[in-house]
Amino acid sequence: MTYEFYKILHILGLTLTLFGLFGLSSVLWNEATPQAGLRKIWSISHGIGLLMLLVAGFGLAARLGLARQLPSWIYFKLFIWVLLGAMPALIKRQPQKSGLWTLVVFILVLLAVIFAIKKPF
Ligand code: HEM
Repeated sequence: MTYEFYKILHILGLTLTLFGLFGLSSVLWNEATPQAGLRKIWSISHGIGLLMLLVAGFGLAARLGLARQLPSWIYFKLFIWVLLGAMPALIKRQPQKSGLWTLVVFILVLLAVIFAIKKPF
């Protein structure tokens, strides 16, 4: 698989992940109860998106020749990935803080993008 293929998969994975997270957080922020079917779509989208992000992330690392010794910025991205994975539990546990969780997701994504582009360490 090519570098370009993994990059498209990576961005698509990010889009699906964020669709799941922002869908859930915005409805709970509105103090509404989402339909069960919609919750399921967000949950599947979040799960498949995270899987695509991870697989494509390692695919990109391999294509860039980084797989043998991963640089520190990739470990930071992996940590951000774990946090994005935990977000639905946080949003459901404290829905009254949905606005805060939305901001946290924005900041985590921003950091992950900066790490990929700047590769600071
Ligand atoms: C946690 C959420 C993540 C977000 C928001 C994210 C975002 C991005 C974006 C936007 C790019 C494209 C940057 C560019 O075009 O130069 C990118 C590239 C990349 N990401 Fe991620 N990523 C995430 C997770 C991961 C994970 C978990 C890994 C590793 C397992 C990873 C490894 C990479 C690599 C190796 C690149 C290629 C950098 C390059 O082309 O120079 N990312 N990421």
